[in-house]
Amino acid sequence: MNKFTAYRIFEENGKSSARFVELLLSDLDPGEVVIQTHYSSVNYKDALAATGAGKVIRRFPCIGGVDVSGVVERSSDARFKAGDEVLVTGYGMGVDHDGGYAEYVRVPADWVVPLPQGLSLFDAMELGTAGFTAALSIHRLEQNELAPDKGKVIVTGATGGVGSLAIQMLAKLRYHVVALTGKESEHEYLKSLGASEILSRKDLQMGTHPLEKARWAGALDSVGGETLAWLTRTMQQNGVIASFGNAGGVELHTTVMPFILRGVRLIGIDSAATVMPLRRLIWQRLATDLHPGLLAKVARKVSFDGLPEVFPLMLQGKLRGRTVVEFTRVV
Ligand SMILES: NC(=O)c1ccc[n+]([C@@H]2O[C@H](COP(=O)([O-])OP(=O)(O)OC[C@H]3O[C@@H](n4cnc5c(N)ncnc54)[C@H](OP(=O)(O)O)[C@@H]3O)[C@@H](O)[C@H]2O)c1
Repeated sequence: MNKFTAYRIFEENGKSSARFVELLLSDLDPGEVVIQTHYSSVNYKDALAATGAGKVIRRFPCIGGVDVSGVVERSSDARFKAGDEVLVTGYGMGVDHDGGYAEYVRVPADWVVPLPQGLSLFDAMELGTAGFTAALSIHRLEQNELAPDKGKVIVTGATGGVGSLAIQMLAKLRYHVVALTGKESEHEYLKSLGASEILSRKDLQMGTHPLEKARWAGALDSVGGETLAWLTRTMQQNGVIASFGNAGGVELHTTVMPFILRGVRLIGIDSAATVMPLRRLIWQRLATDLHPGLLAKVARKVSFDGLPEVFPLMLQGKLRGRTVVEFTRVV
């Protein structure tokens, strides 16, 4: 196989920097399955990794990109054969194993998910880690007895990738969805995804009491920090929070009161480490009952060479929905 292009992240003079490089297959981390990339995507974690704004990369140099979808080029594992349509999200991709920002990806067969029937390779990356995280969070909340008749569900970081997809999935399941956003201009967009109510970040009175007025049966939190602390104070009796994000901060200052007086449950979501049986189940749900019907509405496409321009916008919270990276190499 000839040389191909990859977007590799280096550590130079104590700082991260990323650039396009030409590589051979033998330069990639080992694995049984070689995938010709059709699409990847941009997640918040990718922006942190590529810019060095967060200490995400565990091994330098490393090709970025926590997600990939494409077609198997070759496989030394009997579970996959050339021509199979597949996707990979999480595990060590783009963190300590060369990731999806490359025309070819090589990964352990244990990480590879066959493309579920009902999703295209493009759909798979419109969803990507963001959609997977939204679906896994909803799945976990349901396992903790959340149901549409229990009350309202709030989604924070609502216009983000995970937020936009979560709103659609929850609306499809007939939840009353409240979207919390910092973007005044995107209220109509959020309503069009299925949000019943919109809360503006700038108008939010968070209060300071250990318990504030009980408002939410469920919560999906992209933001962390003060927002997550406020959620703990405003959950209903037996409310459940799925905490997966830190777009607004990593600290959490709260008290035990929501937990011991309202039975609030705070559930951590780690999409990257999800074991394969549950991973396959969640992808199956993404292709069926959780499939967000309006996928096209939340996604925009960038070409592989336009990728670096996306990261700063994402870190500034200026994007909405999902960004899919398109690879156009013709073999
Ligand atoms: N645990 C996991 O497995 C997992 C998986 C995927 C993602 N994540 C995390 O989940 C979060 C969302 O990921 P994403 O890919 O959806 O990112 P994203 O598309 O950048 O969305 C994040 C959203 O959070 C809001 N936001 C940004 N900065 C903020 C701030 N300073 N204060 C409050 N809100 C802010 C913005 O929405 P509004 O303007 O609408 O408020 C923004 O669109 C990130 O922290 C990411 O690292 C975790």
